[in-house]
Amino acid sequence: MRDIAVKIVNFTKKFGNFTAVDNLNLEIFDKEIFGLLGPNGSGKSTTLLTIATVYKPTSGDIIVYGHSVSREDYEVRKLVGIAFQDPKALWIDKVEDMLEWHARVVGYSRSDARKIVKEVLETLDLWEHRNKYFYQLSGGTRKKLELAKVLIQKPRLAILDEPTAQVDVPTKHKLWNIIRELRDEGSTIIIATNDMFEAEKVCERIGIIYKGRLVAVDTVSGLKDRIPAGDVIEVVVEGDGRITKVVEELSAIGRVEYSNGILRIYVEKGEEKAVIVADMLRTRGFKVKSLMIKEPTLDDVFMYFTGARLTSGFEQ
Ligand SMILES: Nc1ncnc2c1ncn2[C@@H]1O[C@H](COP(=O)(O)OP(=O)(O)OP(=O)(O)O)[C@@H](O)[C@H]1O
Ligand SMILES: [Mg+2]
Repeated sequence: MRDIAVKIVNFTKKFGNFTAVDNLNLEIFDKEIFGLLGPNGSGKSTTLLTIATVYKPTSGDIIVYGHSVSREDYEVRKLVGIAFQDPKALWIDKVEDMLEWHARVVGYSRSDARKIVKEVLETLDLWEHRNKYFYQLSGGTRKKLELAKVLIQKPRLAILDEPTAQVDVPTKHKLWNIIRELRDEGSTIIIATNDMFEAEKVCERIGIIYKGRLVAVDTVSGLKDRIPAGDVIEVVVEGDGRITKVVEELSAIGRVEYSNGILRIYVEKGEEKAVIVADMLRTRGFKVKSLMIKEPTLDDVFMYFTGARLTSGFEQ
């Protein structure tokens, strides 16, 4: 059993009559990198902002390391650092001043604040921008500045709302490493993202929300296994004399296609079924020239749990 960092219990958030998050129940483990996925407007930011005590739950509660966001927001705030989806700052703020102020607020002495700000600015390649005003920064640089605040704070719970949106590809890879290091140093991390590659690269477990409701939680490979017939076992065989018989037998495992010496079998848990397929072919006298398992992408997973629901009547 892993320790629990955040326990979301029957959490509902309404704005007027509109329900943005609908009875969410979710546990986030200590020191994991948890990804929150969902279409635009599904309630990711609303959930993160409530964990960070910016919003109050309409009903239900969120417990952060034993403290309720509704009743002990002051305690929760000491444990949480958040990088907002839309970085905002006073137009007159300069990068270095802004971060030094932030470092002082989270408890650094004046000299330590100066030291940590320099260190983080260098880590994020922001040092050259230190004397710029916020309004002079590009969109991607503003996002890095937002992350800088969390890196300075090193909170027990780091909440990152689309941390690499607007950031170029090499920088994304660098930020993912930095996020992993933050976890290795002891922080629990929750990331909201619409970047499936990012989710697959950095998140150990993923929760998918759709219209304010949680529709799936699992590891990336666990989610992939849940797509019916999502894996394809592709086998190149030699000698197609009795192939129709084999195709018939393989149909017990999953839908089978055969053309030009290539068998395709659509299954779940492809890695387990592949062994059975290979054995069956060998005992029927076929030579397996190559065998490949193609698993669904996280895009497919996302579409299955969200997009597919729009068209195929899955909606509850
Ligand atoms: N302060 C607010 N007042 C009214 N409605 C709001 C407010 N904040 C969010 N909403 C609504 O709640 C829903 C969820 O918004 P939220 O920002 O949580 O979505 P999201 O999943 O983060 O989307 P995105 O991927 O676009 O960032 C949306 O329909 C949004 O318009
Ligand atoms: Mg959002």
